[in-house]
This record gives sequence, structure tokens and C-alpha cells, in this order.
Amino acid sequence: MKEKIEAIQAEALARIAAADDARSLEDARVGILGKKGTLTEVSAGMRDVPKEQKAEIGQLLNTARTAITEALEEKQLALQAIADAKALEGIDSTLPARAVHHGSLHPLTLIRHQAIEVLRRMGFALAEGPEIEDEFHCFDALNTPADHPARNEKDTFYFDSGKLLRTHTSSVQIRTMETQAPPVRIIAPGSAYRRDEIDATHLSVFNQLEGLYVDTDVSLGDLKGTLEYFFREMFGAETEVRFRPHFFPFTEPSFEIDVKLHAKGQVPKWIEVAGCGMVDPAVFESIDSGRKDDAFSPEKITGFAFGMGLDRLAMIRWGIKDIRLLIENDVRFLRQFA
Ligand code: PHE
Repeated sequence: MKEKIEAIQAEALARIAAADDARSLEDARVGILGKKGTLTEVSAGMRDVPKEQKAEIGQLLNTARTAITEALEEKQLALQAIADAKALEGIDSTLPARAVHHGSLHPLTLIRHQAIEVLRRMGFALAEGPEIEDEFHCFDALNTPADHPARNEKDTFYFDSGKLLRTHTSSVQIRTMETQAPPVRIIAPGSAYRRDEIDATHLSVFNQLEGLYVDTDVSLGDLKGTLEYFFREMFGAETEVRFRPHFFPFTEPSFEIDVKLHAKGQVPKWIEVAGCGMVDPAVFESIDSGRKDDAFSPEKITGFAFGMGLDRLAMIRWGIKDIRLLIENDVRFLRQFA
């Protein structure tokens, strides 16, 4: 028995030493320690060992098992080390690492964040409304007559249900006044949709930011001061801003605002960025006739509203000459904002 154990141990250690990959090492392990392994089989012979020899033989078996297990573990580590070294062969760890491309916010997101930040500092709170609107909130409540060109099927995306994709964020003015009482001071950034011919300055989906301020003594001076301050915060103290008289059904008087665009390699030019004006009393009357609490009585309150194009602001901010760059997802363009 004793010689048998010693022989098996010697043979097992030799087999382990000879294993030259994970596969042959595993075969060796099973052949020695597995259910029908050589050491397992000789251990079964313990049954027949006379009592007085059991201790000695048992000791011998334990020693053999420990030696074999240790040899297996060592061999496994050694084989792993060889495999690792092989995997690294031909890799020059002193080469500089490959550059990681950082993602970045889209220029429209950047400009929206900045605009919101400036307006919140002035006390405007965020508001929102649906992009799929009804004619009432998009037009009627905004004092827009039935024959106004903006309501035309040629200019507006209508659904069969009669609903439409909002043509401006001004509908949020109405939705806000329906549910809040003055003083109201809100901004509503969001998408607007028009069936425009797509060119360097027009897309059929664009981004607006609406503003509305209603209180007891809001004046045209407040409107002008607020928006001049806003554009100078956005584009720097030197920014040239001009208010051009205009017409909107829901404001009176109304203006369009232009900011001077200095694009690289181009003659500076005025670019229209916003519409604005004092809220038309007819809008307040329409709100009041719905609320029936006189909260927006034009006798008691006044207000101003504005709606600006965030795409245009981004174009001015970075001298972008073609609005289509904002939706084409060309990484060569987008990377410049990282
Ligand atoms: N809704 C107008 C537009 O889309 C802009 C505007 C908003 C004008 C608020 C006046 C007041 O052109």
C-alpha cells in the first residue's frame, strides 16, 4: 500500500509537471483526483488496511493529496502567467493611449440652458404646453381671425381630427393664464412647426422660447429693458439690438427684434430673432370669459409677451451660416462645441 501511494504520488507530480496547457492540466486533475482518479482509487483501499497501520497510511495519503493539490495550483498559475505574457506580445505599452471622444451638449441645448438661466435670474418660471394643439389655444384665444394666413393649410400641419402641430409657443401663454392668476411671469421653451420651405434660415421644426409677464403695472419700458438686458447677457454688452414695429394679432403694439450677426468672413447683418409686444386686451378678455373671475381684467392689469427663435440665437452665438447644420448630426460640426 505504502509503495503504491508513493508511486501514484510520483506519477501524479510528473504528469502535472508535463501538462503544458489548461486542457492537459485539467485532464491530469481528473485522472488523479476525479471519481475514478488514481489517488481516489488507492484511497478506497483504506478499508482493507489493518487497524494498526491505518494511522500511518492515512497520514501518507493526506501528504500525497496535499502535495498534488499544491502542485496543481502552482502549475495553473504558471500556465496563466504564460498565457498573459503571450496576450501582451507585440503590444507596446509605452505608446500614448488612444484619444477618447468626449460627448458634448448640442449647441441648441447649450443656448436653451443659457437663455433659461438668464431669464430665471429675472424671476421667470418655466411653463409648458402640448405640441399637438387645438385651434383655440393656437389661434382663437390669441385673437387670430379665422382668415389669418398662419391658419392656412399651406402653412400649418393639421391632423384629420382638426388638431394641429403648434405653429408657435404662444399657445402656452393661454394655457398658463387659464390656470394661474396674475402676477404671471413664465417662459416656455419648446418646438414649433410650420410648413416652411427648408433653406439656410428655415426648418419645418424649430425651437422657440416664449415669455409672458402679466401684472398690475407692466409697461413697454419693462418689455424693452427686459429684452435688451437678455440679449446683452446672451451675446455680450456690445450687442446691437433693434426693435422694429410689426404686427401680431395678440400684441399691441408689436415689434420684431433684430440682433446684428457677425459671422466669420461675412459682412455683419441684422437677423430677426424674436417677436414681442404688449398683450392685446382682447386676449385678456378671452381668458376672462373662460375663467369668469375677472382675474385678467384689462382694466386692472397689463402685460408683455415675447417669442424668440432659439435656433437663430445659436446661429448668432456661433456665427453658424446654415440652420440645417443644427439637425444634420454631422460630428465634424458638433465636435466644435465639445
Ligand atoms: N408667436 C410669434 C411668432 O411665432 C412671436 C411672438 C410671441 C410675438 C409673443 C409676440 C409675442 O412669430
